[in-house]
Amino acid sequence: MADSATQTNRYYLTTPIYYVNARPHLGHAYSTIVCDAMARRKRALGIDTWFLTGTDEHGQKIERSAKQAGCTPQEFATRIAGEFRGLWDRLGLTYDDFIRTTEERHKRGVQKLFATLRDMGFIYKGSYSGQYCIYDEAYVEGPPGTPCPDCGRITETVSEENYFFKLSAFERRLLEFYEANPGFMGPESTRREVISFVRSGLKDLSVSRTSFSWGIPVPGDEKHVVYVWLDALANYITALGYGSDDPADQAKFKKFWPADMHLIGKEISRFHCVYWPAFLMAAGIEPPRSVRANGWLLFDQGKMSKSRGNIVRAETVHEVLGADALRYFLMREIPFGQDGNFSFDALVQRYNGDLANGYGNLVSRVVNMVHKYFSGVMPETGAEKQAEAALRASAQSAIAGFGPAFDELNFSEALKSLWLLVAETDGYLTANAPWKKPAERREADHAALQARVLGTAAEAIRVITALVYPILPDAAAKVWRQLGQGEIADAAKESFLKNLAWGGLKAGTKLLEPAPLFPRAEKDAVERMQSLEENNDRTAVEAVSQGETGAKAAELAAVPAAASSAPSAAAVREEAKPAAPGHISIDDFAKVDLRVAQILVAERVPKADKLLRLEVDLGYEKRQILAGIAQHYEPEKLVGRKIVIVANLAPRKMRGLESNGMLLAASLEDGAPVLAGFLEEVPLGARLK
Ligand code: MSP
Repeated sequence: MADSATQTNRYYLTTPIYYVNARPHLGHAYSTIVCDAMARRKRALGIDTWFLTGTDEHGQKIERSAKQAGCTPQEFATRIAGEFRGLWDRLGLTYDDFIRTTEERHKRGVQKLFATLRDMGFIYKGSYSGQYCIYDEAYVEGPPGTPCPDCGRITETVSEENYFFKLSAFERRLLEFYEANPGFMGPESTRREVISFVRSGLKDLSVSRTSFSWGIPVPGDEKHVVYVWLDALANYITALGYGSDDPADQAKFKKFWPADMHLIGKEISRFHCVYWPAFLMAAGIEPPRSVRANGWLLFDQGKMSKSRGNIVRAETVHEVLGADALRYFLMREIPFGQDGNFSFDALVQRYNGDLANGYGNLVSRVVNMVHKYFSGVMPETGAEKQAEAALRASAQSAIAGFGPAFDELNFSEALKSLWLLVAETDGYLTANAPWKKPAERREADHAALQARVLGTAAEAIRVITALVYPILPDAAAKVWRQLGQGEIADAAKESFLKNLAWGGLKAGTKLLEPAPLFPRAEKDAVERMQSLEENNDRTAVEAVSQGETGAKAAELAAVPAAASSAPSAAAVREEAKPAAPGHISIDDFAKVDLRVAQILVAERVPKADKLLRLEVDLGYEKRQILAGIAQHYEPEKLVGRKIVIVANLAPRKMRGLESNGMLLAASLEDGAPVLAGFLEEVPLGARLK
């Protein structure tokens, strides 16, 4: 009995742990903000909550990014993990723990999990020969050259000795588990996709790698490192103390496992809904209670991601409109589980419409009037009339409806309904116009009306504020103070949402001076955000060209400007200007990997006037490059030509195709490019220095 009571009164929720190959962007912030709002609500309901986030730091991709940035994987991971954590702190996110997969506590737990799986007979040695997507760290079926079904990048052929996990043994058990636990995964599209994946047959899964070393060594066979997904998924238990002998850790694990919710991006459902429960079942550990997938945040029609070069940083929105505006937009605009567009225009429109003119304006009107007519002290509202009864009923139904919608992750619906109450309260004020005394109304009657109307409106605001606190924590804290309710964080600690009811704002309460909540965003807000993003791009490019190491240099990968495609004429002209104010050192220059390559295939890209798709041979590897030279070069004439490419630029997708590098060209006055080349014979892959 005690156990089930404990279980219902605790809540463990997690974000995915973020790869450290790129700096955080809005896509990452989205998952983390949603979890933060959920954690805040749970805590304010008096539920013992544990909210975990962290970073995924091992694997070949990180190893390569670090090499490209000229530092060790550990240094690289530490810098980017610091950026994630720093950003979450600046945004005021209330995670209880931040796990890094390079921490000892995690390594120890992963090794214990691996050893347990082996001891239970679910791991055997074999060899894998097939395709692997380094970007998604996923094994892919198909012949060499097969693109990754998730990201579209060409997979690499891997042939190595591996340990295998007997995933095939879990096909039936998983299907039975899904059947018995209909709430295990969602939304419905995720559920269908996962079930059909399992029904189509599960093959054993390779769970170690030997061709690189940046990972957790397999216990007892150290030339293997644990497959990065087994390593990463285990964070959800290692962070609770799995693998530790310390009784305090063991108690924490006992208290919070199984997780109530893993919130993930939809692209990683298979890992969380198939592999993860199978690993746990095999190790004799209970699977998580639920996995919920969010859709993608899109920008310029594509999934916001580093490789597409279409990221927006949370810092930008934070700086111009504040963290609450970002939280509100993401949770109101995008029905959870679906993909949603991000645009600065839509953001500013929501901000002005719902926050500045809506909630913010309502609060300031009411607080101002209580100051003006009652010297800032809440009056006795007197007997309720029909209009007040109607508003009270609406507020009570908001209290009843908001929680279930929110808990079902229908944040957008929950907010939409709550904003109907904002509008109704506004309309109630306007209809009763406490600021206007008709000549025929007696003074005493007018004072009674003012007291009744302002008291009722202020109470409606109190209810709205309490409900919206998990989503707008900063604004709610200000309003709570203005309403004379003290610190909302203290109220949350005292589980104020558990007993939220109409009538909490007592007569005699002294209100604080009104303070602006959401100043209206002016026309230039969009431009300011755009220019912050552009400046950030430029800073990142300069960081690389000026020899920054580590995270900053790696940021080149996150930069769209002048990246992987053929340089635009303008970009080349820009580069040609002397670097002001200083010089770069030879070491700085050496970071750019310039190589001789030969064009094997050249063809136009359908529906893109300027783009050519090139396949080039570097001697040591072949790659695809997209170049914006179609208006100046006939593709047929390029085949066989030797060119110079920047070989260590991060891949970027354009028109659905991946570009792996950038060719060099001089830019003429009219913008026409002239490809760089050689008079003498040069071997493929030769480095320019
Ligand atoms: N490291 C793995 C997860 C391991 S969990 C045991 C990983 N990392 S990731 O950094 O590539 O992405 C992590 C998560 O970031 C995604 O699952 C998703 O929650 C979030 N998002 C990244 N880009 C996103 C969008 N454009 N839109 C919405 N969420 C996105 O996968």
